[in-house]
Amino acid sequence: MVRESILLALVALPTSTLSLHTSPGLPFVINTWGGPFTAATDAAYLALINSATVSALDAVEIGCATCERNQCDGTVGFGGSPDESCETTLDAMIMDGTTMKSGAVAGLRRVKHAIAVARAVLHHTRHSLLVGDLATQFAVENGFVEENLSTEESKGRCEEWRARNCQANYRMNVEPDPSTSCGPYKPLPLDQSALAWAVAQNPEPPSHDTISMVAIHSSGAMAAGTSTNGASFKVPGRVGDGPIVGSGSYVDGDVGGCGATGDGDIMMRFLPCYQAVENLRRGMSPTEAAEDAVRRMLRKYPDISSGVVVVNKKGDHGAAASGWTFTYAYRGGEMNATAVVTVPPLTAKDEL
Ligand code: GLY
Repeated sequence: MVRESILLALVALPTSTLSLHTSPGLPFVINTWGGPFTAATDAAYLALINSATVSALDAVEIGCATCERNQCDGTVGFGGSPDESCETTLDAMIMDGTTMKSGAVAGLRRVKHAIAVARAVLHHTRHSLLVGDLATQFAVENGFVEENLSTEESKGRCEEWRARNCQANYRMNVEPDPSTSCGPYKPLPLDQSALAWAVAQNPEPPSHDTISMVAIHSSGAMAAGTSTNGASFKVPGRVGDGPIVGSGSYVDGDVGGCGATGDGDIMMRFLPCYQAVENLRRGMSPTEAAEDAVRRMLRKYPDISSGVVVVNKKGDHGAAASGWTFTYAYRGGEMNATAVVTVPPLTAKDEL
């Protein structure tokens, strides 16, 4: 008999993810990914160390802005992840762990400094999220420059994708067949099962994506933020997990913070960072909190690529991942360099 659901046993590989990563002391900065993303860790940490007036929110903005300027791995800032129309749009969010106020922009067009615009939403409005062209209008009103976010590289990537008949893409249940053809597409009657919708996956396996950062000031004040250019060849208008509070990142200064990266279309359905911080509140260690958040997604989406990094208010940290080998970077206390931790993926094993 076919069981209604597939039960999954989720097995953590015997790795350093299970070890305790104790705090090196405050101030402390942690973010998704090593490699080029460590410049962001250093920028945020050094800002906190070198100036008594730099807040945790400032540090998160400085760190994420560093990745936006450096176009970290092509997944943050201008000139990355062109959509079907070859346009780069940006998602960003920043959150204050003391007030729980947040500001975010989604589908931001023609403005490079997404995390700074998100912060302007936090400080200069009573809202939490502005989108699209009207977020651009708000940015311009607040002194940001409007400019083209495309580069020769992003235009070239898009042209190559179109030359490959727009493969792969995010369309489904449309004609012409999106697995062989470019659009424009028209919807087909929905004769597919709900499960077919549920298991839809990112058509282009991601590499690194998204900077999500948590900073702890030496006073203990905390902030978190996320910046990304989303998914390559997304349907224009698509917004990912980055600007969603509790998904891209989350912080409660009484407890801890979390940053996430991965397949945002799926992750935003689970609010993994909200879950992880609530797990901390209920007494889990940072690693346990991250693993539980990832397992909740793996149970429904065994192929999901995800990375979740968690820190408690003291700076003890841990992480979990699925679908890829994840890395995260941290620097705190009197560390003279950023450290990078490698996090092997959790695996999902069928129990039929
Ligand atoms: N995690 C980035 C995105 O899916 O938009």
